[in-house]
Amino acid sequence: MEEPKSQSEVKEYFRIVGMRPLVGNVTVGGSKNAALPILAATLLSDEPSLIHNVPDLLDVQTMVMVLESLGVQVERVGRHSYRIMPATLSGSEPPYELIRKMRASFLVTGPLISRLGRAQVPLPGGCAIGSRPIDLHLKGFTHLGVRVSMRSGYIEAWAERLQGGEVYFDFPSVGATENVMMLAATIEDETIIANAAREPEVVDLARFLTLMGASIEGAGTDTVVVRGRKNLKGCEYTIMNDRIEAGTFCVAAAITRGDVVVQGIEVSLLRSVVTKLEEVGAKVERMAEDVVRVTMPCRPKPTNIKTMPYPGFPTDMQAQFMSLLCLAEGVSVITETVFESRFAHVGELERMGAKIQVEGRSAVVVGVEKLNGTQVTATDLRAGAALVLAGLAAEGVTEVYGVRHIDRGYEDLEVKLRSLGASIERVRE
Ligand code: UD1
Repeated sequence: MEEPKSQSEVKEYFRIVGMRPLVGNVTVGGSKNAALPILAATLLSDEPSLIHNVPDLLDVQTMVMVLESLGVQVERVGRHSYRIMPATLSGSEPPYELIRKMRASFLVTGPLISRLGRAQVPLPGGCAIGSRPIDLHLKGFTHLGVRVSMRSGYIEAWAERLQGGEVYFDFPSVGATENVMMLAATIEDETIIANAAREPEVVDLARFLTLMGASIEGAGTDTVVVRGRKNLKGCEYTIMNDRIEAGTFCVAAAITRGDVVVQGIEVSLLRSVVTKLEEVGAKVERMAEDVVRVTMPCRPKPTNIKTMPYPGFPTDMQAQFMSLLCLAEGVSVITETVFESRFAHVGELERMGAKIQVEGRSAVVVGVEKLNGTQVTATDLRAGAALVLAGLAAEGVTEVYGVRHIDRGYEDLEVKLRSLGASIERVRE
């Protein structure tokens, strides 16, 4: 009998036959980056919470495993709904394998300190898109009365008495804003977070914490004021939809010169992406508050992009736009200001015939008339999405390896693209 193959021996890739314009309607799912902090925030109460519209993604499974590793009971009550029962929370030390797998696991730290008065969390370490420190999270905690020390790769945080305070971030970190908001949500004084991240996912978390009983003002601006409550309630909540998934489908329409209606996303959240699509020559029609239609009548024109914290152009859309600009009629410059090294897709796009030169934090993209299908490998989530988009536009067959990175953040990507007329299949060998 044949030995069962280990995960690493199974070859899995997307096989894409390119140059087919995408046409049709697609609906986006729940937001990964809103779901992860909200799942962590359920720990703040000892009552159960019921969370809907949770995307079916590897990163969500990892967060669920983190919760379970802490003694919490999690029941999946549908493909996209989870009942979290945190009364049995007992552990304050999430395991290294899970934190290493997904940096966002660190979001349980604020809730653990709040519920148990302590947390021992492994340092998340580096990742494919730069070193990504957690100093801002820790500084924020210390302003609320938490003592922090570091020992053998672990953060030890404990607090005898938490108190409100003023926190100023040198950079509007999304995760640090969320972690401090969660900790502050159970402190009965006022906490002011200045230079807070303004991302819509921070606003979604604030809505959830408000339903649990905290008072939060200013979420979505650079100053968030939290007045917490000692005993937060469990609640029922529906996660917002995913603006990055929506943006990715908009670019898919443009890169294949297609005609796609993207449903289920508040179009105002896509402003920077829509502006850039228009600059490259796409026609973007807002059909309703949460429906947008993208058509692309011509070869893309070049443009320049600089990633910024929200409402600037999202770093999570940088790679996908690079694929589009590879086919532009002229030279574009993409500058990555949020992460220190987020150009892993460049080498792979070059294998498909793209002409890109990276100089420090900028990539100069000289548009070519066509890309050629070949074998490429995704090394991170958005790089993977960019390679799929490039494959959809390329001549011939593209095989995208590293599919597990794509599965971290896109639910049924190939199924949704096929429904728009793409030739893409998941091959497992
Ligand atoms: C979140 C998103 C991620 C997105 C990013 C920026 C989730 C689960 N992930 O990640 O998809 O790309 O926002 O929009 O929501 N930094 C520090 N010290 C810190 C924290 C961050 O120097 O303590 C730096 C990071 O290294 C990075 C920058 O700040 O250069 C932005 O990071 P941050 O906003 O914290 O991103 P994440 O919350 O990790």
